Amino acid sequence: RAEDGHALWLRYAEARPLDMEDTGIGLGEVTAPGATPTQRAARDELRRGLAGLLGSAPRFREGPGGAGGLVLGTPDSSPWIAPMRRELDGLGEEGFLLRETRVDGRKTLLVAARRDIGVLYGVFHLLRLMQTGVELDGLEVREVPQVKLRVLDHWDNLDGYVERGYAGRSLWDWHTLPDWRDPRYTDYARANASLGINGSVLNNVNAEALSLSHAYLRKAAALADVFRPYGIRVYLGARFSAPIELGGLATADPLDPGVQRWWRDKADEIYALIPDFGGFLVKANSEGQPGPQDYARTHAEGANLLADALAAHGGVVMWRAFVYAPDVAEDRARQAYDEFAGLDGALRDNVLVQVKNGPIDFQPREPFHPLFGAMPRTPLMMEFQVTKEYLGFATHLVYLGPLYEEALRSDTHAQGAGSTVAKVVDGSLDGHALSGIAGVANIGDDRTWSGSHFDQANWYAFGRLAWNPRQSARDIAADWVAMTFSPDPGVVAPIVDMMMGSREAAVDYMTPLGLHHLMARGHHYGPGPWVDGGPRADWTSVYYHRADARGIGFDRSTRGSDAVSQYAPEVARTFDDIEQVPEALLLWFHHVPWDHPMRSGRPLWDEMVHRYTRGVRYVDAMQATWETLRGRIDGPRHAHVAAFLAIQRAEAQWWRDASVAYFQSINGLPLPAGELPPP
Ligand code: GCU
Repeated sequence: RAEDGHALWLRYAEARPLDMEDTGIGLGEVTAPGATPTQRAARDELRRGLAGLLGSAPRFREGPGGAGGLVLGTPDSSPWIAPMRRELDGLGEEGFLLRETRVDGRKTLLVAARRDIGVLYGVFHLLRLMQTGVELDGLEVREVPQVKLRVLDHWDNLDGYVERGYAGRSLWDWHTLPDWRDPRYTDYARANASLGINGSVLNNVNAEALSLSHAYLRKAAALADVFRPYGIRVYLGARFSAPIELGGLATADPLDPGVQRWWRDKADEIYALIPDFGGFLVKANSEGQPGPQDYARTHAEGANLLADALAAHGGVVMWRAFVYAPDVAEDRARQAYDEFAGLDGALRDNVLVQVKNGPIDFQPREPFHPLFGAMPRTPLMMEFQVTKEYLGFATHLVYLGPLYEEALRSDTHAQGAGSTVAKVVDGSLDGHALSGIAGVANIGDDRTWSGSHFDQANWYAFGRLAWNPRQSARDIAADWVAMTFSPDPGVVAPIVDMMMGSREAAVDYMTPLGLHHLMARGHHYGPGPWVDGGPRADWTSVYYHRADARGIGFDRSTRGSDAVSQYAPEVARTFDDIEQVPEALLLWFHHVPWDHPMRSGRPLWDEMVHRYTRGVRYVDAMQATWETLRGRIDGPRHAHVAAFLAIQRAEAQWWRDASVAYFQSINGLPLPAGELPPP
């Protein structure tokens, strides 16, 4: 099934030109324990991987009895690893070491860790090196994850519908759980473990109370059983009013003793079924969800209620900062900061505040969220969207690695220059042991898992960056292409180039220069800059672009909504100054005259049209590149991607033409000379 994409980046299909046995390591011989489920998962993966890459399955030994070849284990599971106990202590619970050495005179490759899960991660790492053609001779790799909780958030409803999901229906078949454990659950766990993802929130943030009922907890427990050997903990989205809906209480007030007891009992019930349950993810008082403010309590009082119920069991609360009131006379971009920054220090130790990368909502480009750096006493969890709600769903080829990288490398200046978002998120800036990063999953029951071949790269990049937020999006793309399509440099280089510019292209043809939220109403697919009216101002496009005869853009400067002042002074000054603000964010922070001179020398209007057109041209270029790869990529996948690129090409032009025509209807300006619409 490799050619339908189901194998993801774990195809193990392309044997390297270099014969692995040439390294003298003798990878066909593996000494590995097989007593625990995780140890067996590591052996299974090696069997699968080496059979694919070397052409024959390895021989397994449990040892003792020999050295040489590949030796896997922990100090407790392997006599060869036992002498390394001291050295491995520095690797924490999940880190690992790969080392080429000599044991009893024979070349040996060690995959060593303190815990079985580290060994499994090490095996996936080794297989990745082999898939991407890295030389194993003299290998020495030490890897420790930089972020503690590396989590996928599934916005899956119990009826199988995936909110903002473009890859079919939910993977979880609640109907047949817990009795039937679909093999896909194991495949899902393998794919995540290959990246180091160690948590899965099974249900939607717009949570149904029913997911906390005993019947559904038993189903979640079955999934937890499948995931456990792969180091993945299960979490649940918790509906704040569940004590009313499930428990029959009259209130969900966090200060009510009956409510507190209900959550404690619920936690006890969950941990009896899922001893390593991760905790709750909560969306409260946002977009109509219930929450503590319904009882005139704060977000901190709400979060602490659940945190206290989970604390005895070691669980955490991931409390979302994505909140905004229905009444946004002011500026919606300000609201999360206004509600949360003052709660710093008021939250229990086992609460993380989960913050979207930007202050609005997963737009093609946003500045980093001003809460990063503003709550030093609270672990702030990053929330990225892997599913492309505002980026062309699964049809448009948009590699999100550069978006994630841009957000993580943004400098908050919270403690002077170099206080990057990555350092806030990994806890190093403020010395937090608890840290986390979440991705809203793009996974469903589609044969490609993600709705398209290239959207697998976004799942992959999210996982790799969660492990180490300082990695480069380009390097990650190169690994993904080598593993997914071919390690041939003639394939890797052009595809990586194509991927790396794809996000900027989407920004160009959808929302250039800091424009945002101009998608069609509700479904968010396709252009809708004219969207106006309806129940809420902040659900219209005109609220965001504010175009008039004079100019365009949302004035968030000190003369406008003053959202700039939520950033550290250094950053605020830059964003506030129309001459200094990065042009990519110009219309996010300023209302700018149509004839404002841009750095290119063009007036703003001409520059906008230029960028819209440039975005369409980039899709032309991706089509041309893909065409040159015909015959080097298997037919079915080549055809699938080519068909989607054709859709993207047509829709990029739709975006451009619709947006340009709409803004012309407001500014009355002609098309700039030479800027003809693409044919
Ligand atoms: C967006 C998205 C919703 C989602 C919400 C959230 O607004 O459109 O579907 O529920 O984000 O993150 O809570």
